[in-house]
Amino acid sequence: MGTTAHTRVLGRSGIEVSALGFGCWAIGGEWQDTGGQPLGWGRVDDEESVRAVRRAFDLGVTFFDTADTYGAGHSERVLGRALGKRRDEVVIATKWGNLFDEGTRTAYGVDDSPEHARRALTASLQRLGTDRIDLYQLHIADGDMERAAQLRDICEEFVREGLIRGYAWSTDDPERAAVFARGAHCTAVQHRLNVLQDAPGILALCAEAGLASVNRSPLAMGLLTGKQAPGRTLAAGDIRSAPPAWLPGFTAAAGADPAWLRRVEALREILTAEGRTLAQGALAWIWARSPHTVPIPGFRTVAQAEENAGAMAKGPLSAGQLAEVEQVLGR
Ligand SMILES: NC(=O)c1ccc[n+]([C@@H]2O[C@H](COP(=O)([O-])OP(=O)(O)OC[C@H]3O[C@@H](n4cnc5c(N)ncnc54)[C@H](OP(=O)(O)O)[C@@H]3O)[C@@H](O)[C@H]2O)c1
Repeated sequence: MGTTAHTRVLGRSGIEVSALGFGCWAIGGEWQDTGGQPLGWGRVDDEESVRAVRRAFDLGVTFFDTADTYGAGHSERVLGRALGKRRDEVVIATKWGNLFDEGTRTAYGVDDSPEHARRALTASLQRLGTDRIDLYQLHIADGDMERAAQLRDICEEFVREGLIRGYAWSTDDPERAAVFARGAHCTAVQHRLNVLQDAPGILALCAEAGLASVNRSPLAMGLLTGKQAPGRTLAAGDIRSAPPAWLPGFTAAAGADPAWLRRVEALREILTAEGRTLAQGALAWIWARSPHTVPIPGFRTVAQAEENAGAMAKGPLSAGQLAEVEQVLGR
């Protein structure tokens, strides 16, 4: 995989992206499941989201990750609007597999059928205002593997039809990711990776199979920004205020888990060396961890976009700093 401080190549696809992508979950705004569980990050200002996307582009960010379900279609619409005529200068990743109602902003299940994949792709293309998706990702993290093999073959069909350029499974399970990796145009795995939550199994697969490692939750859903403090509660409508079982590090009503915050504080000095902010240091750890990684931090303001894009100029942590981190965390 070709790599510089500022760009990386997405696996064996040859698609070049900035070493940092932008994650567009939060800018989808509020949505929920049928039981009222918040699935978004609370309210957002669409005009600020558009300004933040454009600012990121001006600062060299050429990779944007969204999903059809974020904000029940809203994130794709906002991203498409923000990119406008710049669409051909960027790489767009989106995801499918969840069912939602755009009108009521409600998610109501999953669908792993090939028929749904085609319906979902058609709808994403329309919302994003484009004729192809650069990286199409299966958004059912624990999906059935036999079914996934069929979906991988459908993705190959989409590639032949020119509707997508490459595809990936968004999963933390190396065995599942390997099912997709067998497809010729599989280019990545999207998975969780941050300095508090390592992923050696998936990283080994990416190295072996020549796939990009696209990193969700690189800031541990905000824990690695320095903004969370013991007792600081999160707004209603923010998924972190009522965390589902798969979201560690936050507790309902009490905010960030003090044990996680202590680990962040223990790392602060290493991560903020050489003038980095804490968030920039967290991203620098990811680039140092593997040459295949492309972190995709979330954002909702121009200020966050500037800070996160600014991490690229500072590059990865050194090998010495990487070793210090492991020592502090006792890994
Ligand atoms: N299953 C999946 O495929 C999956 C799952 C999760 C995420 N993702 C993707 O990965 C992306 C990123 O992961 P994530 O959303 O879980 O979390 P993350 O990137 O670890 O954390 C993002 C949050 O941190 C805060 N933040 C970001 N930059 C900051 C800065 N410079 N200073 C202070 N605070 C800052 C913002 O929240 P506040 O402003 O509220 O603090 C932001 O929404 C998502 O947007 C999505 O594209 C995919």
